[in-house]
Amino acid sequence: MKFDILTLFPEVMNDYFKQGLLGRAQRSGLIQVQAHNLRNWTDDKHQTVDDKPYGGGNGMVLKVGPIYRAVKELKGRRRKVKVVLLTPRGRVFDQKLAREYADLRQLIIISGRYEGVDERVAENIADDQVSIGPYVLMSGDLPAMIMVEVIARLQAGVAGKESWLAERQERGGFWECPQYTRPEIFQPNNRTKWSVPKTLVKGDHRAIKKWRQEKGKLIERG
Ligand code: ADE
Repeated sequence: MKFDILTLFPEVMNDYFKQGLLGRAQRSGLIQVQAHNLRNWTDDKHQTVDDKPYGGGNGMVLKVGPIYRAVKELKGRRRKVKVVLLTPRGRVFDQKLAREYADLRQLIIISGRYEGVDERVAENIADDQVSIGPYVLMSGDLPAMIMVEVIARLQAGVAGKESWLAERQERGGFWECPQYTRPEIFQPNNRTKWSVPKTLVKGDHRAIKKWRQEKGKLIERG
């Protein structure tokens, strides 16, 4: 799957995407992630990406032209492509929506900046408008990175051992459970002991399964 992000600050994002599991997944060809500078698609010598709003008011609005040209070029002739505009007004992103996007060949993400994006982008260019939660950020840059990470993790081979995923996907959904590792008893000071729950240490698999079911939280219904 290919991810293309349109932003005014591609460097920070591309650095991030080179690290850890995302970096490894790209080097092994499982996914491609690329943040692009919207200024590459401007048509004036000052590389203007924004302008004053019609009707007056504060702030600047991202222009439709550079976004239109960028999306047209990035899309090419691929099928199974979606274009997402990030905005606090959008549908809230959750694991279910991530799964829908995970089946695409390409996802183009437009990160809004400044006080807004010309509404013609939402009306004519974007297939969906997505928000990562009910709060307002200064741009769609962090939301874009979050979307890429969540969706990339669902691609086969990206998140490491499939058996680990399958185990958590038992019982009709994805379970997130408390995890512990050595030491069994940690002593932050002489008076305090933090212990690992006995059930996990003992190794009775039936009991462990039951414990995880009780303590785990269902993140997504299967
Ligand atoms: N841009 C600003 N706030 C946002 C949010 N919550 N989700 C997506 N894009 C945003």
